[in-house]
Amino acid sequence: MTKINANYQKLPGSYLFSMIAKKIAAYSAAHPDAQIIRLGIGDVTQPLGAPVIKALHEGVDEMANAATFHGYAPDLGYSFLREAIAGEYKERGSKIEADEIFVSDGAKSDSANIQELFDLDNRIAVSDPVYPVYVDSNVMAGRTGTYDAATGMWSDVTYMPCTEENGFIADLPKERADIIYLCFPNNPTGMTVTKEQLQRWVDYANEHDSVIIYDAAYEAYITEADKPHSIYECEGARTCAIEIRSFSKNAGFTGLRLGFTVIPKELKRGGCSLHDMWARRHGTKYNGAPYIVQKAGAACYTPEGKASIRSEVGYYMENARIIYTSLKDMGYTVYGGVNAPYIWLKTPDQMTSWDFFDRLLETIHVVGTPGAGFGPHGEGFFRLTAFGTRENTKKAMERFRKL
Ligand code: MLT
Repeated sequence: MTKINANYQKLPGSYLFSMIAKKIAAYSAAHPDAQIIRLGIGDVTQPLGAPVIKALHEGVDEMANAATFHGYAPDLGYSFLREAIAGEYKERGSKIEADEIFVSDGAKSDSANIQELFDLDNRIAVSDPVYPVYVDSNVMAGRTGTYDAATGMWSDVTYMPCTEENGFIADLPKERADIIYLCFPNNPTGMTVTKEQLQRWVDYANEHDSVIIYDAAYEAYITEADKPHSIYECEGARTCAIEIRSFSKNAGFTGLRLGFTVIPKELKRGGCSLHDMWARRHGTKYNGAPYIVQKAGAACYTPEGKASIRSEVGYYMENARIIYTSLKDMGYTVYGGVNAPYIWLKTPDQMTSWDFFDRLLETIHVVGTPGAGFGPHGEGFFRLTAFGTRENTKKAMERFRKL
């Protein structure tokens, strides 16, 4: 008899954003006239920049001609893109070689798949609240023990609380953690670390032989000069850290799909090179991101591409400013929004975050993401994204004033 992977049965409910989508669909079906403003999932709303569109058109034309047609992409990525990415690391002072970069279809799949490199006996540590993919993918693999519905916690996961008291930057774990997931600028809190704070994590990982999975999907949103864009800005990160990046949030590729993972060649555990293991995995399980998409990705590194990204990021950061200042004016306690496109607000009157979600949906037709969906310490908080249109962002704030 075929036996299923029983770990899937342990997952509570559906994936957070699928659950929210279902709730919105049900509400819309019952209230077809409600003009819903979606500031929930971090999906971009602005069109792709002109340099990206130009590259896509050129790529399509190349595919129409036998002399310039491209079949399977190199499984680790085209060298023109890997070189461009390595060039940007170099410009920021981090030495990353092109062959340490693995091009993929996005940061979500890489951050879910990377755990395959590690034995099930490893203990993972996550910030709490946290992007749910890190935990769910480890549940599917069978690394997280048993779920306690009362606390919303897994027995074999170390949760590192991110609270108002610690500025939403977790303290180092007190117990041994083998695989540490960090995301800065942070999803969902919108807060980020200084280089000195990040250095402490790198030192911890090197001392304890741990590996840091560093999700830097939102680095383009950093506005403060003392905040690191990459973990490789820290001393010793090449021997303990894997970095995952995305083209979704900076260049608007949520619908195109492109990302990459960096694994330095020095990063070894148990005498094995994680770089070589990931290359082996990529080669076996992946046929490479589409040529035209990689070509569009490379266009992001040209001077025109960089200017276009700056303007796109600037657009969303103005939304973040509008949300942050409007909510503050209204008396809400608000975090994030300065180095990230997420605003993390405290729910009023100690409402639970799901109650606040329902209240916003039902009374002002604005959708956000309940903090509890990101982990137990997310309870009492609510995330709004700055990725809406300017018009909807302003409209949402007007509606908040009427609450
Ligand atoms: C989010 O809203 O947290 C993100 O859009 C999720 C993602 O990037 O997969």
